[in-house]
Amino acid sequence: MTTKDKLLWFLKEQSQQWVSGESLSLHLNISRAAVNKHVHRLREEGYSIAAVPKKGYCLEKSPDRFLENEILDGLQTKVLGKTDIVCLQSVDSTNTIAKELALDHAPEGTLVVAETQTAGRGRKGRSWLSPEADGIYASLILRPAIEPADAFKFTLIAGVATAEAILAETNIPVCIKWPNDILTDGKKIAGILAEISMETDMVDYIILGLGMNINTPPESFAPELKEIASSLLIAAGQPFSRLRLIRSFLLQMETYYNMFTEQGFSSILERWKALSNTVGREISVDVIGKTHRGLVKDIDHDGRLILEDPSGKSHHLISGDVTFIDA
Ligand code: BTN
Repeated sequence: MTTKDKLLWFLKEQSQQWVSGESLSLHLNISRAAVNKHVHRLREEGYSIAAVPKKGYCLEKSPDRFLENEILDGLQTKVLGKTDIVCLQSVDSTNTIAKELALDHAPEGTLVVAETQTAGRGRKGRSWLSPEADGIYASLILRPAIEPADAFKFTLIAGVATAEAILAETNIPVCIKWPNDILTDGKKIAGILAEISMETDMVDYIILGLGMNINTPPESFAPELKEIASSLLIAAGQPFSRLRLIRSFLLQMETYYNMFTEQGFSSILERWKALSNTVGREISVDVIGKTHRGLVKDIDHDGRLILEDPSGKSHHLISGDVTFIDA
């Protein structure tokens, strides 16, 4: 822990109370001038710290920013976000950084998070709007001991974890469009880009990239995006804590990951189906340049979409872009 972190921790312990410069200086074994310097640095990071002669310092408010200390403060996981956290102000894509770290043997649970992305990627080569300090743009490194055929299940697990985190923190009703688009009022508010690296018969790593529109104002969405995308702020008319949401996502993800390891996929699949709006719908789905149309009969035990075409033939689809045609 750096001296600045220790000072912050001390101020947090005495939250909303005055702490004299002298006691900070004694406690941290640094000069009063050094206390002042660290307080200044913390203010630059967004902490609101009052200073009054003869009273000392008082931490009034912590910023809703992705700082390692803030993410860890109240994070209830054992592994996810606990092994390493890389907080960046601006980056092209957190998935790209996470991939580099994974190739460099970063352990499972490593989290990369940014305030903004200049080239955020979505599924199917689309871009992901990442306005500064409005949403979550984060990537998690997982190293599950699974065969490549099971890797797709993790995109569904991440969808369930994201939906559960939003429900727990905001109460906004959400549903999942297969495979893992999170919608509210029919508009997308979060998505997951899972990038998987395989060895011959085992998964080496999975990068789970989460994009969540939290405090994104309506004017940030271009007119064509406004039709299909939204944010939690727009849905509820109030802002939400990005820190609480990322901690909640990590906890839900770890809970479902453990459930998968200990009990298998079936109960997670049941929860996915309960949260989903896709089963029973007439859809068209684009899979590698081919459009399939039909009725979604179910999701199979591997998470694939079972589509019945007009001739009554069933197709099990592992990826694709779903459009509802019965809306
Ligand atoms: C989708 O198309 O629904 C997936 C969107 C995933 C966006 C996130 S933002 C953080 C991470 N970094 C990226 O470049 N993409 C993912």
